[in-house]
Amino acid sequence: MKIKVFDNEEDLYNYAAKIFINEVKTNPNTHLGLATGSTPIKLYQLLVEDYKKNKTDYSNVKTFNLDEYAGLDKTHAQSYYTFMHNQLFNHINIKKENINIPNGKANNLNKEAETYGKLLIKEGINLQLLGIGTNGHIAFNEPGSPLDGKCSLVDLTKNTIKDNSRFFKNINEVPKKAISVGIGDILKSKKIVLIAVGKHKAEAIKKTVNVKPTTKCPASALNNHKETLILLDKDAASLL
Ligand code: F6R
Repeated sequence: MKIKVFDNEEDLYNYAAKIFINEVKTNPNTHLGLATGSTPIKLYQLLVEDYKKNKTDYSNVKTFNLDEYAGLDKTHAQSYYTFMHNQLFNHINIKKENINIPNGKANNLNKEAETYGKLLIKEGINLQLLGIGTNGHIAFNEPGSPLDGKCSLVDLTKNTIKDNSRFFKNINEVPKKAISVGIGDILKSKKIVLIAVGKHKAEAIKKTVNVKPTTKCPASALNNHKETLILLDKDAASLL
């Protein structure tokens, strides 16, 4: 894994945006693995700005999201489907049929996870974007998840439910389960870019960078992946 620390968020996000724009320009049929949450918002803004200015072409790009809350309809304001359309997909020329997000309202959520996992393996990811939870989770692989795990229906920890309650009216509205790609799926991506900003991520980053992979910190599995780049602001890197 390679680590790059930036003096400020602006430089970090400009650097990250260049990586993604360059990937789309050099490989117009690329498969991108995408994340939700607060971390990617500025990156998506920069991709939209670049699209408006430079018409970077997404018409043959396929995207695969990491996860979706179980039980939320895609039209729900907090579904990751809604998030991705508001932040990115509605503003670039990606084709609807090239967007892949697990269906959190499927009748059989275990089957949906299995089918999505098979799709991921068949299609393959060229460039995967990751955020990191304050407990070290990647996608919704919470501490204790197998480091070679596949896409499945997972339970969210109390910690994650509390962290994500900021997006909901109250904590009781936060779904308790999600469909999430597994750590094993993530490690199959050709390249991975993990972004962390803020002091609240420093502890998780300390447990991730240059350590022996352990299920106690799911992101530590990235030490087994040769093409992982970790982009940090000074705060997130403050305990290294
Ligand atoms: C989101 C995801 C999560 C987030 C993580 C950090 O698709 O898979 O692992 O990346 O919870 O969330 P933020 O960016 O909101 O701090």
